[in-house]
Amino acid sequence: MIGNFEGKHILHGNQFSNEDLHKIMQVADEFEQGLQKGQTYDLMKGKVLAALFFEPSTRTRLSFESAMLHLGGGVISVASAATSSAAKGETIEDTALTVSQYAHIIVMRHPKIGSAAEAAAVATVPVINAGDGAGQHPTQALLDAYTIKKELGTLDGITISLVGDLKYGRTVHALIELLSLYDIGFRLVSPAGLRMPADIVARLKEKGIEVVETEDLVEAAADSDLMYVTRIQKERFPNVEDYEKIKGAYVIDETLLDNAKKGVIIMHPLPRVDEISTSVDSYEGAAYFRQVRNGLYVRMALLALVLGMK
Ligand code: NCD
Repeated sequence: MIGNFEGKHILHGNQFSNEDLHKIMQVADEFEQGLQKGQTYDLMKGKVLAALFFEPSTRTRLSFESAMLHLGGGVISVASAATSSAAKGETIEDTALTVSQYAHIIVMRHPKIGSAAEAAAVATVPVINAGDGAGQHPTQALLDAYTIKKELGTLDGITISLVGDLKYGRTVHALIELLSLYDIGFRLVSPAGLRMPADIVARLKEKGIEVVETEDLVEAAADSDLMYVTRIQKERFPNVEDYEKIKGAYVIDETLLDNAKKGVIIMHPLPRVDEISTSVDSYEGAAYFRQVRNGLYVRMALLALVLGMK
């Protein structure tokens, strides 16, 4: 994209350059400082964001809506497939064409891989992918990168473990593609049946990035600066028995922290089920609620850039 976000669709973790990420972080930081000083904004006066969520969400939808409201814009919203015409069999394309008439930007979450790209192909306004099934979740990746930079001070020369459901987890798919812009070593920690898709691993290795796939959480924790933990994506399993066999495979608790690299940062896109013990919440390296807050700043930055206000 190289610095010019205006009018662009945001669909995939691999669509950004170093300059793009730098720009987003710079604008997000500006909003962070501003909000902390109590500053208010009217940059988006007269602009409308449509949030189309055909899958459950708390953080992603509310942070986009909050971001738009903090910028002085307005929001219209579909919060479940059941209450929209999707339930009557309307296609993604027809929905996108319709909503383009009402809003200046569309944020969409949908269970089908590639759905956001399908909407973007026909929409007359920018489309932001807020999660397309087990595919991608690029805005989560942006806020995750912002959080990593803030927590560790750098995105270069570090080792990160991605833990849990690497097969169906769209957050880790987007994050690893985005972070492949940097000099980062990865430990991919998952049960054998939930490994990172082979095409993503192959792309990283082609770029010369160190990727170690393992089932051993303790070993990975010992040499990681940061652990990015994910929920096993129950809703994506073809049958519930397979989920039951795997759930609870990895848990971050105090014993694990005792054996982890000193000062390790723990992140999670949330919601968590049981993969991080609540006793870890008071650990100073537990960054997942700071990560939530960063989502607001990064989404404000993204909206401002895509709508050409920054
Ligand atoms: C994630 C998602 O929806 O992919 N949540 C989020 O957006 N913060 C992760 C998950 O559901 O496990």
